[in-house]
Amino acid sequence: MSETKKASSAASTQASAHPESPLVLGIESSCDDTACAIVDGRGRVLASVVSSQIQKHRPYGGVVPEIASREHLKNWPEVSRQTFELAGVELDQIDAVAATSGPGLVGSLLVGLSLGKAIAYGLDKPFLATHHLEGHLYSPYLGESGAPVAEIPERFVGLVASGGHTSLIEVDGSKTSTVGETRDDAVGEAFDKLGKRIGLPFPGGPEVDRLAEASGLDPDKQRFRLPRQEGIAFSYSGLKSAALREVEALERADVPTDATQPKLAAELVQLIVDFRYAAIAQIVNRLERLFRERPFESLAVSGGVAANRELRRQVASFAEARGVALALVPLVYASDNAAMIAHAALRRHRAGESDPLDVDVFSRGRVGAEK
Ligand code: KG4
Ligand code: ZN
Repeated sequence: MSETKKASSAASTQASAHPESPLVLGIESSCDDTACAIVDGRGRVLASVVSSQIQKHRPYGGVVPEIASREHLKNWPEVSRQTFELAGVELDQIDAVAATSGPGLVGSLLVGLSLGKAIAYGLDKPFLATHHLEGHLYSPYLGESGAPVAEIPERFVGLVASGGHTSLIEVDGSKTSTVGETRDDAVGEAFDKLGKRIGLPFPGGPEVDRLAEASGLDPDKQRFRLPRQEGIAFSYSGLKSAALREVEALERADVPTDATQPKLAAELVQLIVDFRYAAIAQIVNRLERLFRERPFESLAVSGGVAANRELRRQVASFAEARGVALALVPLVYASDNAAMIAHAALRRHRAGESDPLDVDVFSRGRVGAEK
């Protein structure tokens, strides 16, 4: 199997000393990560294992759906074995089983959902088909190192920023409503496309972020004229195209644009810094707008792009200036993982909900609107 990130074994041992029921098994396979986790009744993550397929997709510069489904099938036995071993839990101790049913790649989702249903059926325990974004939405409250889940505010605004999603979601008790989402590309996708164009390995987001950070340049001093989209909805295709056009212009001016070189041209570094700033400024602009329209007291930031250092800084200063309580997802739960799926399912399980075993997968759909 490809790289497997284990939860720290110290955390697992500590948390599994006295696991409290109900124990929820979570399975996540919506894109290119095969993930399994066990969460206990206090929302403690007893184990969370993620097997990344990045090496398999890298030669193609993006996720190839058929390869992803097949890799899930291959990776699952080892990922689940490690999860149970780390958690110190036996299969027959599991009280409920959850798997992501969407949104995502249909072939990939079918693997995890079918496994989850089969396990629930075999154990004769409830099954919870879980919305991927619901997992991200509550993930900022998950505790690290086996700590219980933090108290989740009754009302909060969730920002999910990843390679597939850029959404602002209002939560009021059990009601969720999407107030803004991207009209085209997701923010992480825009990072990845610029990364690809300047020769960085897939996914380019983390590396674009690292280069911008290492530049030491002041992000407030923009040189490139990159578009800022207006309105509450997000849009990243304009910014992406503008950045790619600037790369072309640099090439026409004989400026080297291969970002894998040890020493980068100053103009290329400036473009990377400006791009990151513009991408993140759009997010903070939407938060400002929403706050002006309907002030909120709590903000929960999640998704792979929540690892972005500019985002973490800008969102923190937004929250401080507005007196908003900020929950930033722990880095270990920012990218796709199954702990967030098991935890979202635990909430529904506690509310007495479950899903029938003939539930299907779906490729698109807002949280709260479909399952
Ligand atoms: O949540 P995630 O693992 O998967 C999706 O549901 O999409 O997010 C992966 C995305 C990729 O687009 C990746 O480039 C981006 O998150 N990403 C970043 C950073 N770390 C991950 N983008 C910008 N800066 C980062 N530090
Ligand atoms: Zn995700």
